[in-house]
Amino acid sequence: MLGQSIRNLEADSLARVALANNAEELEAARIAAFGRKEGAFQQIAKEMSKLAPDERKHIGMLLNAAKQAVETALECRKQRFAQAALAARLDAEWLDLTLPAPGPRRGHLHPLTQIQRELEELFLSLGFAVLDGPEVETEYHNFDALNIPADHPARDAQDTFWLKDGFLLRTHTSPVQVRGMEKLGPPLRMVAPGRVFRNESVDASHEHTFYQLEGMMIDRDVSVAHLIYFMKTLSTSIFGRDVPVRLRPGYFPFVEPGFELDIQCLICGGAGCAVCKQSGWVELLGCGLVNPNVLRLSGIDPEEWSGFAFGLGLTRLVMMRYGIDDIRLLQGGDLRFLEQF
Ligand code: DAH
Repeated sequence: MLGQSIRNLEADSLARVALANNAEELEAARIAAFGRKEGAFQQIAKEMSKLAPDERKHIGMLLNAAKQAVETALECRKQRFAQAALAARLDAEWLDLTLPAPGPRRGHLHPLTQIQRELEELFLSLGFAVLDGPEVETEYHNFDALNIPADHPARDAQDTFWLKDGFLLRTHTSPVQVRGMEKLGPPLRMVAPGRVFRNESVDASHEHTFYQLEGMMIDRDVSVAHLIYFMKTLSTSIFGRDVPVRLRPGYFPFVEPGFELDIQCLICGGAGCAVCKQSGWVELLGCGLVNPNVLRLSGIDPEEWSGFAFGLGLTRLVMMRYGIDDIRLLQGGDLRFLEQF
């Protein structure tokens, strides 16, 4: 009777193993057969204790053979499921290593740097040197040597970040003119791009830090005609076309006569907007003939030499060129903004 139960159990277990659809069903079959408490083989082993010794031996062999057969079937099926799982995973996660890789992400120059380089190229082609000067300047180079003495009201026009011992953050690139005259002497053609600082409150058109490009030409008989020629060349080159400009008298202690060159606001086309403060015009640069005092202070004889100078707002230029209406975007470091250029 027990022998028949064993054969039935073996057949049932093998059928259950064979029919298991997945690892969970297989595990359920294993527990049904071999589970410690409820397992069917365990139940039969309990029954065996009631048998006579020689019958027990015979049934024991039968039981072991049946267990062996079911265990082998379980193991086989388990491996099949493991292989199938691995195959499915390899299929889902495969990579085609022969596909071309996406190229590395490349950045680009900041729009301010782009425009600076363009202007450097232009002036190099016109025979100008490109000079560099310190951002931490002396009071002498930033003011005195430019004909702005200590008690001069023009000092108030440029709110200054003062440092210790007469040093300051340069408020304009004009001190590089002085350094150029001191170092190279006349005749001289130079431009100097760079970062400048003003202690003023920040809004859509004012930053405490911005960029200028300074220019200076000193030679014999340089006149306003030369100045106008170079300024026209400059504005046509920047905008790639004739943009309406106007020249009006302007006061800068280091030039005489002094002018302000305005361009028609490219953002509103002259109609008036926040950037041009509703005037339709934007100041592009200051310029003029170098004041004889400035030449003299740097050891150049104004009887023999004359020159023109100009200072251009690079930051404002970038805004005009691209129609940017808030200066704070340029130094904000937001890549979503910068990636557009
Ligand atoms: N340094 C002046 C400023 O920052 C700009 C300027 C005006 C520069 C006239 C010049 C010049 O060289 O001739 O406002």
